[in-house]
Amino acid sequence: MSESNTYDDNEIVNSSTNMHMDELIAVRLSRRQALKGGVSVTAAALLGGLSLSACGGGSDDASGLQLGFTAVAKNKNDLVTVPEGYQVSILHALGDPLQFGDESWKDNGSETAESYNRRVGDGHDGMYFFGLADDGKFDAKRSDRGLLAVNHEYVVGPYALHPAGMTAGAARVASEVEKEIYAHGVSVAEVKRSTGNDMAMVRGSRFNRRVTSATEMAFTGPVKGSALVKTKFSVDGSKTRGTNNNCANGYTPWGTYLTCEENWLNVVARAAGDNAQRSAKEIAGLNRYGLPEGRKSPYLWDTAGTDDLFARWTSSVTGADATQDYRNTANTFGWVVEIDPFNPSSTPAKRSALGRFNHEGAWPAPAVAGQPIVVYQGDDARNEYIYKFVSKALWDPKDVNGGMAAGAKYLDEGTLYVAKFNADGSGQWLELTFGKNGLDGSNAAYAFADQADVVTHARLAADKLGATKMDRPEWGAVNPLNGEAYMTLTNNSNRVASTATPTGSQLKPDAANPRVYADTYTNADGTTRTNSGNPNGHIIRWREANGNGGATRFAWDIYLFAAQSDAAANVNLSGLTAVNDFSSPDGLYFDERGLLWIQTDDGAYTDVTNCMMLAAVPGRVGDGGKATAAGGTETIKGTNATPDTVRRFLVGPRECEITGVAVTPDGKTLFFNVQHPGEDGKLTALTSHWPASQTNPAAPQRPRSATVVVTRKDGGPIGL
Ligand code: FEO
Ligand code: CA
Ligand code: CA
Repeated sequence: MSESNTYDDNEIVNSSTNMHMDELIAVRLSRRQALKGGVSVTAAALLGGLSLSACGGGSDDASGLQLGFTAVAKNKNDLVTVPEGYQVSILHALGDPLQFGDESWKDNGSETAESYNRRVGDGHDGMYFFGLADDGKFDAKRSDRGLLAVNHEYVVGPYALHPAGMTAGAARVASEVEKEIYAHGVSVAEVKRSTGNDMAMVRGSRFNRRVTSATEMAFTGPVKGSALVKTKFSVDGSKTRGTNNNCANGYTPWGTYLTCEENWLNVVARAAGDNAQRSAKEIAGLNRYGLPEGRKSPYLWDTAGTDDLFARWTSSVTGADATQDYRNTANTFGWVVEIDPFNPSSTPAKRSALGRFNHEGAWPAPAVAGQPIVVYQGDDARNEYIYKFVSKALWDPKDVNGGMAAGAKYLDEGTLYVAKFNADGSGQWLELTFGKNGLDGSNAAYAFADQADVVTHARLAADKLGATKMDRPEWGAVNPLNGEAYMTLTNNSNRVASTATPTGSQLKPDAANPRVYADTYTNADGTTRTNSGNPNGHIIRWREANGNGGATRFAWDIYLFAAQSDAAANVNLSGLTAVNDFSSPDGLYFDERGLLWIQTDDGAYTDVTNCMMLAAVPGRVGDGGKATAAGGTETIKGTNATPDTVRRFLVGPRECEITGVAVTPDGKTLFFNVQHPGEDGKLTALTSHWPASQTNPAAPQRPRSATVVVTRKDGGPIGL
């Protein structure tokens, strides 16, 4: 989702945090115990990496990884620029047919709405490569053939999918909205190596599938059957239709895809005067999720007609009770949805135990037999939280290829936590369970009724527990070499100086979100503007206190501070230089080798460069030390970046966001997505012609979101 889209940023006010000195002591104690042999080698590795390597320098614990490409220079070309010796091809772009029988993209918006049930959607975002065995099952080691699941986050405004862009007016045109509903969601496409390690889509494959904003799906976990999700469509609250605004993603060790619903406020409205029909509690819940009465949705889907396909997009009271209207539409979005890509006829499931918020993504820690499945999650809005889900069931590798039944086993029962970061480098996972920690009917801000209420209103539960308000949590990733978790905090214009008096949703800095400064941006017409708060973002990371997952304490530091290389030293705290400076980290992914990929969705450094992707060989929590950030707040940072540990791998075309990355198990094919190229233009004045411009600089075509395949000309491993 574009940084210039204001609905990426709905902001919330909530309560403040406390520091617990005992937590740091507990983390340190458990580490010392581990090193004395009191716990397993795995736990010792998680706590310090000392069992793997005694070196605390730039390269990671025993990874031995060395970046092996020439850094790409920042640029504003209408091209994907990759290092010397690398090549790119386009796998698929908006509107490409997944099946035979539909015509190829015509570049004039003439494709029918209905055909988008079989075409690649818009706004490519998170994705995952699943190896596909000859018997049609998941094979985590297979590199030459796979299923690529891709999120289609949203319809890019200026062009949309229509002949002349979106038709303006107070009410939308039904055929346009219908097309947009089918252009959201997820695509699954079979991909196969063609020439060398390059990949092509297998058109017509039996696995090719679309899941859209109209696809029927089940509710599972605590919310199944709850009054909170009963609708005219599902009077017993067991199912719903559609997943949309699917931003980042996750995957499971049993071979399914997790897709996450972020900016669903783009398409969900609420009528003026609706408060009069609601209880005070309902109003508190709706307001906390950014849906006050009278709020129109930017895409106005609810205005396209009285047909159920459209009317359901306003979360308003219109009938006698919840089974006769769509007052609960808002409660049906913000979830993690599980899709089995290997079974195209399977029904996707909204796994409610993982909570509801602006759900950026759901990133699993590596599964360990006999231990719970652990999933890290972020709520991408200013001042929102980082969450963790820990399954009740313990991982049994026999469940690989278990499909939706395995999903029910591991994702429908477990414990949801929210993170609190203390100034001393310790942290705590706070449990979001009904009946614990004051999460019950006595809670003043919102009286919780049951666990369905807690997961549906996870933000309100997290407020009660005093979780730490972050600078917009975007993607997470877990280092497969040492189990440490990373999360991008993309930026936050709401941070104000520690000496200021915050108003509204403004926040003072804290150790985990420490920087406050101003950045000057030069507009296209030569005028300038000032971005303030934390305009460039940072990447935080943590190490669980007692090994895989179930821990409630952790140690953290800030792995990287994004910055322009010419910024002041207390802004450019990680010492970035021309080969690795960047702004607004968003996408994040560890490949199986332990190489970290960092992607940007930026609006602060785009006067100098298009968005980009960097490759990194990270160290570990605690490899740096204390620092004082711009604005005077003390923090704990990782060791400085060097050209050997962080390097720019590619730069995207104009006005795009680089998002979504997957690498085959052999490390030889990399996929990434270009979202919304040319988003600042209009049909009569295009500012990008990508992807056509990749091969023909004079191409006249409309810009389209697309998946790109990167390979090395010599067939070698990517990035090394
Ligand atoms: Fe879809 Fe938070 O970016
Ligand atoms: Ca994102
Ligand atoms: Ca973003």
